[in-house]
Amino acid sequence: MSGADTKFPDGFTWGASTSAYQIEGAWNEDGKGPSVWDLFVQEEDKMWRGQTGKIACDHYHRFKEDVALMAQIGIKAYRFSLSWSRILPKGTGKVNKAGIRFYNALIDELLKNGIEPWITLFHWDYPYELYLQGGWLNPKSPEWFEEYTRVAVEHFSDRVRYWVTINEPQGFLGLGHSEGYHAPGLKLCLRECLLAGHNTLLAHGRSVRVIRDNAKLEPTIGWSPASSAYRPSTNSLNDINAAREATYAIYPGGLWNTCWWTDPVFLGAYPDEGLKIYGKDSPQATKADMKLINQPIDFCGCNLFQVVPVKMGANGAPVAVELQPEEPISTYEWSLNTEGLYWGPTFIHERYQTPLVIMENGCSLLDRVGLDGAVHDSGRKDFIIGCLLSLHRAIEDGVDVRGYFHWSLMDNFEWQQGYKHRFGLVYVDFESQDRILKESAFTYQEIIATHGESLRKYTHNQEEPVPYVVKEAQRYIENNISEPFNVKTIAAHLNCHPDSLSRRFKQYTGTSLSTHIRRVRLECARNMLRDPNMLIGVVSDYCGFSDRIHFTKVFRKEMGMTPGQFQRQFRAREDAEEKAAVEISKNPRVK
Ligand code: BGC
Repeated sequence: MSGADTKFPDGFTWGASTSAYQIEGAWNEDGKGPSVWDLFVQEEDKMWRGQTGKIACDHYHRFKEDVALMAQIGIKAYRFSLSWSRILPKGTGKVNKAGIRFYNALIDELLKNGIEPWITLFHWDYPYELYLQGGWLNPKSPEWFEEYTRVAVEHFSDRVRYWVTINEPQGFLGLGHSEGYHAPGLKLCLRECLLAGHNTLLAHGRSVRVIRDNAKLEPTIGWSPASSAYRPSTNSLNDINAAREATYAIYPGGLWNTCWWTDPVFLGAYPDEGLKIYGKDSPQATKADMKLINQPIDFCGCNLFQVVPVKMGANGAPVAVELQPEEPISTYEWSLNTEGLYWGPTFIHERYQTPLVIMENGCSLLDRVGLDGAVHDSGRKDFIIGCLLSLHRAIEDGVDVRGYFHWSLMDNFEWQQGYKHRFGLVYVDFESQDRILKESAFTYQEIIATHGESLRKYTHNQEEPVPYVVKEAQRYIENNISEPFNVKTIAAHLNCHPDSLSRRFKQYTGTSLSTHIRRVRLECARNMLRDPNMLIGVVSDYCGFSDRIHFTKVFRKEMGMTPGQFQRQFRAREDAEEKAAVEISKNPRVK
C-alpha cells in the first residue's frame, strides 16, 4: 500500500458518538423521569465498585464545553442519544419542557459550531414507568416508541436531518433481558427475549414511518445494530468463506448475531436458518409485521468493535482461532486487530446492498495523565489509524460506506463496568470533571482535516494483501472459464459495482479486468491448441467464446495468426519430432 491514496470519498462524514445515560448525569433533574438504568445502578452488587451514572460526565451542565472540544477536534457530526424519560418522564403522555429545552440548546450549540447533529432515539435507558407495564414484552411497546418518536420529530426535525432509531437490540436484550448484567437485569427465556426483540423491530418500523412522514427537514434514517462480524485468520479463500459464513450465522440459544436483527429490516423476513435454530421460540410474525419492519431506510449503522478471527475447520464449518500472545488487546481483552473494519463492512454490504455508516468503533485502554499533563494513548491512535486504513480499503473495493463515528467522544460510564474502561478521544477526570484531549484526538483531528490523506504516512512498509475482490474475481474466472461471463457478471457475483470492481482490479494488477478475462480465455485456448488433434470449435466453446468466428477474430488480433495457423505449428513440430525420432533410431550417435 506504500504511497497509496488514502483520501476518503467526497461527502464522507467524520463523527464521534456518545449516549445519554453514559454522559449526561443530571439523572433526576428538571423533571426527568427515571429510566431502568437509574434504578438498576442502585441495586446491590450489580455495578463495578457500586458506580453509577448519576453524574457521569455531567454533560447536561457542561455540554457547551463538550461541543467546543468537538469543534477543536474538527468533528463534523455528533451522534448522541436522547433520554426518552427526560423528554417523556413516564415514557408516554406529558412532555417535559425542560428536557426539550436541553436538547434544543445542544442542537443549536452543535449547529453554531458547524457540527451536524445525529440523533439516536433509543440507546438502552428505557423509561422505568413503561418497564413496570411490561417494557418491550408489552405488545403496546411499539406504539409507545412511536409516540415518543413523534414528540422528538415535532421538536427537533426542523434542525436535525439524521435519525437513528435503535441502538444494538442485541445489547439491551442480550445483556439486559437474557443475561441479567445490564438494566433491567432480567434473565428471560429465549422465547420471551425474541418476543421483546420482535416488539423492538416493530417499534423501529413505526418510528421510521413517523420520521419519514413528519420530519420538517428531509430525513436520512438508519438503525444501529451490533455488527457481530468475523474476519478470516488468513487470506485463503477457505478462511474468507468461513468468516462470511460465521458473520451470517445464527448461534443457538443466543441473541448475538447480525442476521436475525438486520434481515427483517432490509430483507423483510427473519432468516430461515434462524427460524430453524430458534424453532418454536421464534415469535409469531405476521406478513403485516414484516412489512412494517421492512420500511425503506437510508443506511445500515454498523457498531464494530472486536471482530473475531475464524478459519475453515476440518468439516468445512468455521471455527474460531485463538488470539496469538503478541496480538494487542483492550482492557476488555478484545482484540485490537484492525482488519475487522475491512471484513465487517464487506460482508454486511454484500448481504444487504445498502449504504453503511460506522456508528461505533473504538477501544478501551488504560489511559492516564502523564507527568507532562498529556494523555499518550498511542494504542488508540494506532487503532484508529489501522481501522480507517482498513475501512478505506473496503471503500476502494466497492463497499458503500458513508461515514465513521468514533466510540466515544469522551470517557464515560461504561454500563455495569462503571468507569473502569476508558473509550474516549477526550480524557475525563470524573472527580474534577476536567477534560483533556488525548493524543488520539489530535491524530483524529489531522485525519479529519486532511479527509484521510494524513493516513498515507502510516502505509509505508505495509504489504497490501491481494484485495479480496481481485482474488475472488480471479478465482471466478478460473472456475467458470467455459461460461460467457463478463465484468458485469463478476461484479454481480461479488455484489459490487462493475466500475469500482474494474478500478480496483486495474489499480492492483495494472491490467483492466476485461483484458484479463480475454487473456485467461486465450491462454486456455493456446494450451488446448497445442494438441494437434483438438477441434477448433471445441476450444472456442470450452474457453467461453460466443462462437468460432468471434474466437478466431479475438485470437488473430492478439496473436497475429488464426487458431488454425497456431495449431499447425505444433502439428509441424510434431511431424519434425517424429522424423527426428526415426533418424535417431537409425543413427545412435545423433543426439
Ligand atoms: C454500546 C456502547 C458501549 C460500547 C462499549 C457499544 O456496543 O453501544 O454503549 O459503551 O459498546 O462497550
